[in-house]
Amino acid sequence: MTQLKNPKYIAALVFAAFLAGVVFYAWPNKTPMSNYPNSKNLNPVNSSSRPPVFNKQQYSLKEANSIWVVVNKTRPLAPQNYTPTDLATPNLPVRVPGNESMQMRQVTAAALEKMFAAASADGVKLMVSSGYRSYSYQVNLYGGYVKSSGQAAADNFSARPGYSEHQTGLAVDLEPLDQQCDVNICFANLPAGKWVSVNAYKYGFILRYPADKIAITGYDYEPWHVRYIGTELALQMHQQHVETLEEFFGLPAAANYITTN
Ligand code: DAL
Ligand code: ZN
Repeated sequence: MTQLKNPKYIAALVFAAFLAGVVFYAWPNKTPMSNYPNSKNLNPVNSSSRPPVFNKQQYSLKEANSIWVVVNKTRPLAPQNYTPTDLATPNLPVRVPGNESMQMRQVTAAALEKMFAAASADGVKLMVSSGYRSYSYQVNLYGGYVKSSGQAAADNFSARPGYSEHQTGLAVDLEPLDQQCDVNICFANLPAGKWVSVNAYKYGFILRYPADKIAITGYDYEPWHVRYIGTELALQMHQQHVETLEEFFGLPAAANYITTN
């Protein structure tokens, strides 16, 4: 204890404290205080700058009445003869007035009405070519294509009954009001096709069968076929540059039917 009163000892302690202070302040700061959310640092973490994590489980991918349902050659509708309960005819130009295939689910119709209005404001006039198609409607449509083109060819552009996205009431084929390039890939090069390709996501639609994703979707390029998935998911896919539902949700490619029937 007598040492504590020794002036030399006190001077040594003061010097040591001074050195410690110098080292503490001069040491490179590898971990900025701003990394610690609870620190009293004047530079706190701005939580709003982090993008919120997108919840990929908000809606079912299996339930036929889910707006995120994924229907493809490996994912048939369940039940096979599913019929939406809220079919409506949109207040829009349609190719065959009064036909059941001009209907669609109410969410689809509401979104499509907004999209057509925006297109019209940009000078693009659109028409509904085909919307909801029942199981039996698809039996006739697909059967006709098999007769005229053979089954292998038909399978590249027409879904077998129970496997068509049109049966969900969430898919719509579009064409220009003047009916140019009706259900033809030349639609992609018309102002209407270009407008749809650029703007569809803003209204909750995706182009379901892109030209470069045939091995994933199982179908030829269909620039006229849009699928309603809601604005939240459509925006997310757009921002992430993901074109297909299979890729976005990590589902297997659906180039072929699983069974051979
Ligand atoms: N054309 C699409 C693939 C369908 O038939 O549903
Ligand atoms: Zn279609």
